[in-house]
Amino acid sequence: MNTRARSGALALTVALALLAAGCTGGGAGGVTGKPGAAGLRDPYFPRLGNGGYDVGHYGLTLAYDPASGRLDGRAEITAKATQDLSAFNLDLAGLTVREATVDGEPAAVSRAGNELTLRPGRDIDEGAEFRTVVTYDGVPETITDLDGSKEGWLRTTDGALAVGEPTGSMAWFPGNHHPSDKAAYDVTVTVPAGVKALSNGVLTSEKTTADGRTTSVWHSAEPMASYLATLAIGRYDTATATALGKVPVLTAADPEVTAKSAALRAKVPEILKWQTENFGPYPFAAAGAIVERDGDLGYALETQSRPVFPIGSFDTTTLVHELAHQWYGDSVTPASWKDIWLNEGFATYAEWLYAEDFGNTPAQKSFERAFSDEDAWAFPPAEPPTAEDLFGSPVYQRGAMVLHKIRQAVGDDTFFEILSGWPAKYRYSTATTEDFTRYVESVAGKDLSGLWDVWLYGDGKPDKP
Ligand code: ARG
Ligand code: ZN
Repeated sequence: MNTRARSGALALTVALALLAAGCTGGGAGGVTGKPGAAGLRDPYFPRLGNGGYDVGHYGLTLAYDPASGRLDGRAEITAKATQDLSAFNLDLAGLTVREATVDGEPAAVSRAGNELTLRPGRDIDEGAEFRTVVTYDGVPETITDLDGSKEGWLRTTDGALAVGEPTGSMAWFPGNHHPSDKAAYDVTVTVPAGVKALSNGVLTSEKTTADGRTTSVWHSAEPMASYLATLAIGRYDTATATALGKVPVLTAADPEVTAKSAALRAKVPEILKWQTENFGPYPFAAAGAIVERDGDLGYALETQSRPVFPIGSFDTTTLVHELAHQWYGDSVTPASWKDIWLNEGFATYAEWLYAEDFGNTPAQKSFERAFSDEDAWAFPPAEPPTAEDLFGSPVYQRGAMVLHKIRQAVGDDTFFEILSGWPAKYRYSTATTEDFTRYVESVAGKDLSGLWDVWLYGDGKPDKP
């Protein structure tokens, strides 16, 4: 029960009892608060994320030693309680927790699987802002997803790369690792002489310490889902440019792929310009790309403001795809992993639009090609059967087909209004598939349930495209 639901008399009695016990602010342990939930009941990862609070900011202070693979971390998390809390969880995989505090006071720590439970000395009131600090260290682990992809913390020849879709970010910092809890970030990283550390957002400071190590500070002011956080440590060659007359662009490449990636890295500003014309204002204060050797990473990922690529997939199409995710996925984020087609369908459709504008291939052609690909029909894009299917072909191809069917149904003018209106309406937020269908119908001014039934939720391939 919530304190506000109690009778006035009872509330007064409780308050007097607390005063007598010398408590101010939160209630005495266990009197009013309950533990926050250990998960947010995501259909694919029920234990991912945590209930009872909302993170506003992560301040991560990290030091990494590529030779030993050891990470030393301090996570300062500022959050707001969404219930009276006696305890709350953070997601963390591996690593050793040394100490935890809540509002400067020691908190009791227990761990079970990927759940770290913090029990502060006194309850946290619903609505209160609190600050928790966790210090930890160890050699972070690589996570293998059900589809065989490697994520979390990847060791590279000269450093490491952190990638977190869908659940890997818990391998390098404790947090609320569900996409629905977005937050601002400041990541401070110290690395030995000879290597650099890159992360998301704007580089606000870079200093060499007395022992020759470098400390850099990366700031992401716009809310970010934790799966989009990255850290790239290694011997990088970097290049800078400006996009859209104001956005600093920083690209980086492993020295082995610097020459091979340079020409395409230089195209980031012009691709962003074309995307801004189609998708609306670029949502972040920084942009760029990080290009790795193929052995270091198995796929490209739309890490916020600065996507990462293995050189083997660093081509124009994939660059267009990952940059399109900055609008679709990064700024507007799926409310749960079930809504993943909202990311991949849009990013794939961005490829089709680019081919239409620059490659002499009308989107209708790309649509027909996808339609005749049997792999695309394994399941409906809005209902991947298991976590193994979250990045399956139907999510990408049928997802893009849904957008093309909308375009056919509403015409180009309304379609392009939707394309930029959707990321404008849900900018820096999260959205569900139902938010999307409702939005499209409101802009189109008509019921499109037939389209959703067949293309979004329907099993199997329709008779004709
Ligand atoms: N979102 C990435 C893309 O741009 C793919 C991530 C794949 N991750 C995985 N665990 N399979 O398409
Ligand atoms: Zn994608």
